[in-house]
Amino acid sequence: MIEIINLKKQFKTKGKNGGKTVKTAIDNLSLAINDGEIFGLLGPNGAGKTTLVSMLAMLMRPCGGEILYDGKNAFANETFVKSQIGVVPQHINFDQDLTVWENMELHGRLHHLPEKERHARIDELLEYVGLQERRRESIKALSGGMKRRLLIVRALIHRPKVLFLDEPTVALDPQVRRRIWDLIRTLHREGVTVVLTTHYIEEAENLCGRVAVINDGRLVKTGSPTELCRQLGSFTAEWDADGARQYRFFAQRSEAAAFAAELDSAAFIRRTNLEDVFIELTGRAIK
Ligand SMILES: Nc1ncnc2c1ncn2[C@@H]1O[C@H](COP(=O)(O)OP(=O)(O)OP(=O)(O)O)[C@@H](O)[C@H]1O
Ligand SMILES: [Mg+2]
Repeated sequence: MIEIINLKKQFKTKGKNGGKTVKTAIDNLSLAINDGEIFGLLGPNGAGKTTLVSMLAMLMRPCGGEILYDGKNAFANETFVKSQIGVVPQHINFDQDLTVWENMELHGRLHHLPEKERHARIDELLEYVGLQERRRESIKALSGGMKRRLLIVRALIHRPKVLFLDEPTVALDPQVRRRIWDLIRTLHREGVTVVLTTHYIEEAENLCGRVAVINDGRLVKTGSPTELCRQLGSFTAEWDADGARQYRFFAQRSEAAAFAAELDSAAFIRRTNLEDVFIELTGRAIK
């Protein structure tokens, strides 16, 4: 289990006129992620998802609070915890001067995998994401989507028990996205704990047993996608008024229909989805 207790992260940046400003990216956030679950972190741009994942993956130190892996402080057991986790960062960070295979090899060596096992694993993973033919090419020669696929399998080289994926399928075509979902489901069946951030609500609905909605560095709500939709109201009435789309949520379809019948304009009634939950919990304004 991963326990996040009153976690805090602030960034100090230089403001105008040389003055310093402090941005609280994670604000006293507490959360527990169970072994073997696929857990989604949802939140608008700037909510703090990458900052949280970076601290969980031990790429960044918190300013306060604690992260426990199976009851042990992560930073006091850094080498052990790092051997158990894999990280797919939001931004591509390969060594651009090395080939596809060399980047994988470098990562395998960093994890001290024996040569025979390492090479077999690299072959298996490159094959899985259709990059075996491109193994001798420089990273620079890959398309954006190919780099993303490589980024995902690179994190799997040492068979981590916990995998962090920060926007894993951004910029991937639908076929590859589905293949990555299959890969995540396979890892889940094998008992790997998966923590992912995504802006694709469909991805969270398809994959995640539980999600946490984060806004302004704070935890807003946690639950399964179905639970969160039920809490908001399982049925949505949608209609146009005052130049904008309007939404109301109801527990029963009959309540939504009765409400719609009273409106001047035609309303559309449908099941509530996680996108509705996301927008209701994080607000409609763009920050
Ligand atoms: N290194 C940094 N220095 C200063 N501010 C930072 C730094 N990293 C993040 N921030 C700020 O912290 C807040 C949270 O950023 P973060 O990248 O964690 O958000 P996010 O939820 O991952 O957003 P996105 O959906 O756009 O990826 C933002 O206001 C961001 O500008
Ligand atoms: Mg991010």
